[in-house]
Amino acid sequence: MGRASNEPGLSGGRLAGRRAVITGAAQGIGAEIARTYRREGAELVLLDRAADTVGALAGSLGAHSVPVDLADAAATAAAVEQAIGLLGGIDILVNNAGIMSMAPLLELTVENWDLTFDVNVRAMFVTTQVAGRAMVAQGHGTIVNMSSMGAKLGSPNQAHYAASKAAVMSLTRVAAMEFGPHNITVNCICPGYVLTELGAATRTAAMVQAWSDKSPLGRLAETSDVANMALFLASDDASYCTGQAMNVSGGMVMH
Ligand SMILES: NC(=O)c1ccc[n+]([C@@H]2O[C@H](COP(=O)([O-])OP(=O)(O)OC[C@H]3O[C@@H](n4cnc5c(N)ncnc54)[C@H](O)[C@@H]3O)[C@@H](O)[C@H]2O)c1
Repeated sequence: MGRASNEPGLSGGRLAGRRAVITGAAQGIGAEIARTYRREGAELVLLDRAADTVGALAGSLGAHSVPVDLADAAATAAAVEQAIGLLGGIDILVNNAGIMSMAPLLELTVENWDLTFDVNVRAMFVTTQVAGRAMVAQGHGTIVNMSSMGAKLGSPNQAHYAASKAAVMSLTRVAAMEFGPHNITVNCICPGYVLTELGAATRTAAMVQAWSDKSPLGRLAETSDVANMALFLASDDASYCTGQAMNVSGGMVMH
């Protein structure tokens, strides 16, 4: 099943009584996942470097927040430990946080490459290890990782980002293999374009129109489109689903 058994008195939501930790939850897709999970009855700890914003969201949702810079591996491990302590365990880990910048391959710096991998991949390894130990000990759990359509298609000026998101897919598969015997499922989501702060600095109206035209549905993703997949993957409905990379791209990717 990959998650805790339903307890009496906690029914009413698809995640009722589940204890979830969500990274990068201050805004954008992560904040929408937090609102969705809370609506479905989950107890939450929200992790983000934007302490004030994530604190305000947590306050409005009746959740906890732990400020952390996920580029700092030791601080990341400590933050997940703290979150598990606040919740008294962990049933769901959502590794949503990520950064993206644009740079041609010939101009990409080692510093930018490393920071992208530190936040997008290394932090995910660290949180997965800390949460995974707790999940193995309790004999159930589920992990949802945020990859990207870019992992499957690539995109000019995004060698570092696309490679980091492909690494997320590989980490997801290996974690699914190793954790499966412990009743833990691990999946990732590959969103298409979502109009969040991510990439907003370099986005033009012409780019948005061209992206929309690529989808058979003729539109970009809403944050709720991605949050609904994150809800499905964390719910009992996805109990026989593990090691998968689920497209939420409006049909821009079909493999
Ligand atoms: N927006 C898109 O089009 C799109 C497409 C595919 C995948 N994604 C992925 O979805 C995830 C969420 O993206 P979004 O669009 O909501 O972006 P966003 O920039 O709006 O939100 C990202 C959140 O992560 C937090 N964060 C970033 N670096 C951090 C760090 N070092 N420590 C702690 N927190 C940190 C930010 O403070 C922010 O709250 C990312 O992994 C992103 O790569 C987004």
